[in-house]
Amino acid sequence: MGKMMMKKHTLSISHHCCFLLSLFSIFTSSKSHNYSDALSKSLLYFEAQRSGRLPHNQRVTWRDHSGLTDGLEQGVDLVGGYYDAGDHVKFGLPMAFTVTMLSWSIIEYGEYIAGAGELEHAIEAIKWGTDYFIKAHTSPNVLWAEVGDGYTDHYCWQRPEDMTTSRQAYKVDENNPGSDVAGETAAAMAAASVVFRKTNPRYSYLLLQHAQQLFGFADKYRGKYDENIEVVKNYYTSVSGYNDELLWAALWLYKATDNHRYLRYVIDNAHRFGGIGWSITEFSWDVKFAGIQVLASQLLSEEKHQTHKSILERYQSKAEYYICSCLGKNNGTKNNVGLTPGGLIYIRQWNNMQYVSSGSFLTMVYSDLLQKSNRKKLKCQMGDVTPQELLQFSKYQVDYILGSNPLNMSYLVGFGPKFPTRVHHRGASIVSYRENKGFIGCTEGYDNWYGSSDPNPNVVFGALVGGPNHKDEFFDKRGNYMQTEACTYNTAPLVGIFARLHYLENAILHASY
Ligand SMILES: *[C@@H]1O[C@H](CO)[C@@H](O)[C@H](O)[C@H]1NC(C)=O
Ligand SMILES: *[C@@H]1O[C@H](CO)[C@@H](O)[C@H](O)[C@H]1NC(C)=O
Ligand SMILES: *[C@@H]1O[C@H](CO)[C@@H](O)[C@H](O)[C@H]1NC(C)=O
Repeated sequence: MGKMMMKKHTLSISHHCCFLLSLFSIFTSSKSHNYSDALSKSLLYFEAQRSGRLPHNQRVTWRDHSGLTDGLEQGVDLVGGYYDAGDHVKFGLPMAFTVTMLSWSIIEYGEYIAGAGELEHAIEAIKWGTDYFIKAHTSPNVLWAEVGDGYTDHYCWQRPEDMTTSRQAYKVDENNPGSDVAGETAAAMAAASVVFRKTNPRYSYLLLQHAQQLFGFADKYRGKYDENIEVVKNYYTSVSGYNDELLWAALWLYKATDNHRYLRYVIDNAHRFGGIGWSITEFSWDVKFAGIQVLASQLLSEEKHQTHKSILERYQSKAEYYICSCLGKNNGTKNNVGLTPGGLIYIRQWNNMQYVSSGSFLTMVYSDLLQKSNRKKLKCQMGDVTPQELLQFSKYQVDYILGSNPLNMSYLVGFGPKFPTRVHHRGASIVSYRENKGFIGCTEGYDNWYGSSDPNPNVVFGALVGGPNHKDEFFDKRGNYMQTEACTYNTAPLVGIFARLHYLENAILHASY
């Protein structure tokens, strides 16, 4: 992390004054929010989602230990990790994507997270995930990819501390492969190894060993994990298949190792795996092509990668299709991302905010990349786009999330004066276990808490809920899970974005005096 950031810092100095000045109007013409407060809260959310034995420094104190026998039936220790959303299943694929995006946030914007005093919390959020992945990867070709299942879990409405539902664990192995979940876990561990390289080199090395083995497993034994772990269907089916995860893992491994073998993989399989074929307008836990294309574009700016210029440029042109689509600058409506009347990225009604945070992250990273390049402008079909415009777009999305929207509602829970109070979240909606240890049974939660019109007794700070519909409307009801449920991968990209905006705003305020 250190080395990479130093380089970035010196690179940006030459344009520092002018770029900041050009941003002045972006930060003064529209309402800004307290991004450092948002950053602190976003990291609290990961503590609320913790499964396992909670540490003494746990700050979200309405939670307690849970899932302490996870894996026991299968003879493996799977205690720890994250609950995915408002339920208590530990889904490996989205958990790994969450950790990859948290790591990317630090790799890209770690100096700003540190500047806001939150680096330690951000690193802890990653480590809570990677400690679990280490446990779950019990031998080179075995990865435990899910604990619990959506069907039995959703039948109950309970606090995690009271859980009575099945905690059966499910794995992928040579005979039942899952290249998508193994690939994403490899990506997460490789990206995290970059984060830990300076501060905890032994841990970083350990993560890298696991990442390399997992990638080997994913690549050698090809298969879609949902064909082998049937219970994940209807929850986290890998619709895009595993080709994107293989490219994504190889790119992160290349970043982590500098080993040319991984870059070759990304170049040689670019076409066959759809890396340079798919023009796509979403980036998510399932579909990673846009993220791959942005990472590959970053490589293009380095001299040593010029031998692969032609393939990398094809990745870049697809990255730019995605970025242009966010800005509505591709030719034709269906080539552009939809927006609500209030200007929010709109892809689909169920948990739309995940696409807002992932899209804002990529446009911000691309803004920085473009600013550092000597092109300075992105050529879209319908006109040029400047780095400032990309940043402005990203900031607009984030400001919408934080309350600059038709309902004046912050969709980041616990932020600002008005936010969702009936988040679809079992733990948050029931009295805290620390306050009332009396057992609350499977359906008792539905009877006494789920249907209540009262606000949740616990505020799940930093959760980004599914958000408004295509008309900017939002109904704050626990049963409205498409809008009021939050997921870990919604918040993960925001960690980097909040830090970047906090830094820029301060830099501009100081530059203007
Ligand atoms: C932003 O929020 C933090 C609390 O997280 C507070 O300490 C700080 O004063 C706030 N900044 C501004 C400018 O209001
Ligand atoms: C956009 O697409 C339409 C229909 O294919 C075409 O006629 C038009 O020239 C295109 N515009 C640009 C700027 O490429
Ligand atoms: C949102 O805030 C604006 C400006 O303060 C106000 O004019 C508008 O009526 C508010 N809208 C709602 C739905 O509260």
